[in-house]
Amino acid sequence: MKYLKIILILFSFFIIQCGSSVDETTLHSPDENIQVIFNLNNNGEAFYLINFKGNRIIDTSCFSFDFKEDKSFGSNLKIVNASSSSFDETWQTVWGEQKFIRNNYNELIIELEETKEPFRKCNLIFRVFDDAVAFRYQFPQQNNLNEVTIIDENTQFNLTGDHTCWWIPGDWDIYEHLYNTTRFTEIDALSKRNHPNLAQTYIPENAVNTPVTMKTDEGIYISILEADLTDYSDMTLKIDKENLLFQSELVGNDSGIKVKTKAPFVTPWRLILIGNEAKDLIESRTILNLNKPNVLPDVSWIKPTKYVGIWWEMHLGKSSWDMASGKHGATTENAKRYIDFASENNIGAVLIEGWNTGWENWVGDDREGIFDFVTPYEDYNLKEVVQYAKEKGVNIIMHHETSSAVTTYEQQMDTAFALCKSLGIHAVKTGYVGKIIPKGEYHHGQYMVNHYRKVVEKAAKYQVMVNVHEPIKPTGLRRTYPNLMSGEGLRGQEFNAWSVDMNPPDHLTIVPFTRMLAGPIDFTPGIFDIKFDKYKDKNQVNTTLAHQLALYVVIYSPFQMAADLPENYEAHPAFQFIKDVGVDWDTTIALNAEIQEYLTIARKERNTDKWFIGSITDENERTLTISLSFLDKGKKYNAVIYSDSDDSHWNNNPTAYKIEKMVVDNSTTINLHLAPGGGAAISLIPLKN
Ligand code: NOJ
Ligand code: CA
Repeated sequence: MKYLKIILILFSFFIIQCGSSVDETTLHSPDENIQVIFNLNNNGEAFYLINFKGNRIIDTSCFSFDFKEDKSFGSNLKIVNASSSSFDETWQTVWGEQKFIRNNYNELIIELEETKEPFRKCNLIFRVFDDAVAFRYQFPQQNNLNEVTIIDENTQFNLTGDHTCWWIPGDWDIYEHLYNTTRFTEIDALSKRNHPNLAQTYIPENAVNTPVTMKTDEGIYISILEADLTDYSDMTLKIDKENLLFQSELVGNDSGIKVKTKAPFVTPWRLILIGNEAKDLIESRTILNLNKPNVLPDVSWIKPTKYVGIWWEMHLGKSSWDMASGKHGATTENAKRYIDFASENNIGAVLIEGWNTGWENWVGDDREGIFDFVTPYEDYNLKEVVQYAKEKGVNIIMHHETSSAVTTYEQQMDTAFALCKSLGIHAVKTGYVGKIIPKGEYHHGQYMVNHYRKVVEKAAKYQVMVNVHEPIKPTGLRRTYPNLMSGEGLRGQEFNAWSVDMNPPDHLTIVPFTRMLAGPIDFTPGIFDIKFDKYKDKNQVNTTLAHQLALYVVIYSPFQMAADLPENYEAHPAFQFIKDVGVDWDTTIALNAEIQEYLTIARKERNTDKWFIGSITDENERTLTISLSFLDKGKKYNAVIYSDSDDSHWNNNPTAYKIEKMVVDNSTTINLHLAPGGGAAISLIPLKN
């Protein structure tokens, strides 16, 4: 076969860290631009290398596993068999950035076995796509490997230069850090410890979380992430500055256990996205292709939606989650106000936080048993609110803040989801603020990975969609469980309301190339009252209003919040864009992009012919020229362009904007002027013939 060549190299000529080569096996991407070379060295250690268009982009990289019960696995290996195949299929998503996704790769399975006792076996599975390389370890059923405790997985990603990296620290407990931009050798994750506004954080090593994204000096873009994280723990990457090497560091617990499992088992995919241009990363759907197809037979109740909520008002301090403060937000009356607002403005759902008793004690040491997820505060009539919403054609999003009391939540889950089902509620936002109880476990360890999975599965049984805050990062599971809608797992809008360090203007010009490569983001955009001086002196949103509008297209989520207070939207001309914008897509195109500078995305709404464009810039003003050549040939569209005014500025004049209208077709080009911290949003509605 063309893409698989097994060459016996008699005289080793590689100068490599893991030793010299013996047998070489290569595998190409379908377009032949990416090449993976697999080999064993003289010590019987396996290694791989990656070339992209003839240039080495991952140098000799080895792997090994350290087990508690037995000696390490990774040397004295021989290749028992190597087989290859190719795959090409197009599948339809239940919802997403694209209606149809092509899954096209070449696969190589290398069966390895120890040449010495205990003769253990492991299969390495490589898949090479046109935009990525993925590999995973599969330990088959065998005599000398049964129950195992992994105390380290040592997968190497050997870099070929001191690349520019966009990273957050390898925190075992939270992803809500600001992104840092440094050369690889300047990564200093330990300096990110002790953030005053993070309720939980644990950074044991100089490591970064995945996805971590890099740009080489030659202009190639690489992101390392993982797919199909199942019954395993999150992979962070340790920094080896001397050897320019990332090495996997799995999240563990306080007993020193990373993963407890039993053969046969398979690890998550280690995924390396590779792009010629920054926008290639955004257009990759490989993470979904590496997950199993949908297992839910009935998906009729799964629906992307825009939503508003009793939420920002708590973060601003206008009201509170608890009742003791005397300014409880989740009252029947207030909920009805939001429901009215949603129903009048084409917003499908309302989230109500602080509806259930327990918020007086939700943070603190003793959080077990505080929430029961079924008992409303006395000023909130749950049934009445749900009935009112039904009459107005609006859905309610239930809120389950677990306070990280995981055992309590697992005990309550059935009752809690049964309540949703009985009320006809099909969506829940969950939350995990604070240190995990049981103590010694972390948000990103195997224990919690399995917990988050249980919640998604349980929710599916009760026909409930899930939006997870303080989650395990997405790894493409939404393909298998399309009720896993969105999640946080990054620095969201909320930090602008109360954090000592707010999100800087360039924050969301980095996020799409890092966290968003993993999956949908419940960022909660759309703040119009940028400075909210009525509520806070020191905090504000560090973007213009037009930038906030653009986020409905730039940041992908099937649950997209209009986060500001209804009174800030009422009678506001720019709110029309939020009313119009789609939330489920047929096609997504990244029109231009440079990480931490600018990004423009166009998305075509599913089942309509409407297009929407969002464009954002960092703290620098710029003009971007957009060609509308992607529009249907021969069709004319009414374009409404919401953009910064000439004098807009994220700090000095953030709420200035203008609205322009024009008729366009696929020969039109538009010049967008983006102010410092600015953006633009465009709706394109086909003209009726
Ligand atoms: C943190 C979540 O990110 C936020 O959205 C929520 O309002 C609070 N926790 C309370 O649950
Ligand atoms: Ca949060």
